[in-house]
Amino acid sequence: MLPDELTGPGQGVPAREHAVRAEEDLLTARHAVRASAVAAGFTIVDQTKIVTAASELVRNAYIHGGGGTMTIAVARDGRGRAGLRLTVRDEGPGIADVEQAMTDGFSTGAGLGHGLGGTRRLVDEFTIDTAPGHGTTVTIVRWKP
Ligand SMILES: Nc1ncnc2c1ncn2[C@@H]1O[C@H](COP(=O)(O)OP(=O)(O)O)[C@@H](O)[C@H]1O
Ligand SMILES: [Mg+2]
Repeated sequence: MLPDELTGPGQGVPAREHAVRAEEDLLTARHAVRASAVAAGFTIVDQTKIVTAASELVRNAYIHGGGGTMTIAVARDGRGRAGLRLTVRDEGPGIADVEQAMTDGFSTGAGLGHGLGGTRRLVDEFTIDTAPGHGTTVTIVRWKP
């Protein structure tokens, strides 16, 4: 368990960091995100969107970033709306051209190149912080309607 400003009395789900080091961690991460989405009261459709987005990001951290971490936190906006915030971080090579990496069909590996672009379309907020030699951190938020 990690301290997190998004957690606290009444927030329910504490922020939790999951290691993404091995193939089996991808499944564990997906299950953890699904459980958090269920606990947060998302619909089945939204649960699937969040899990799919998380799955792409942890796979990227594993394949392209050489492994990293995923943190799940409950988020609240100013009006008290609840959501889930996932932060996937690695200290791999980073991305030199983010716009190119976000383009559907672009892949430097054996992938289909729809991971980043697809993920952005599945969530309400998407931020990517990356630089060559400094790793990659992607943060996504999905709000409850
Ligand atoms: N965590 C990361 N670290 C380094 N490069 C990344 C990372 N995530 C994505 N990329 C780069 O962005 C490209 C596009 O990613 P993505 O859309 O998920 O497609 P794919 O994973 O199928 O290649 C990748 O091929 C890779 O070059
Ligand atoms: Mg990918």
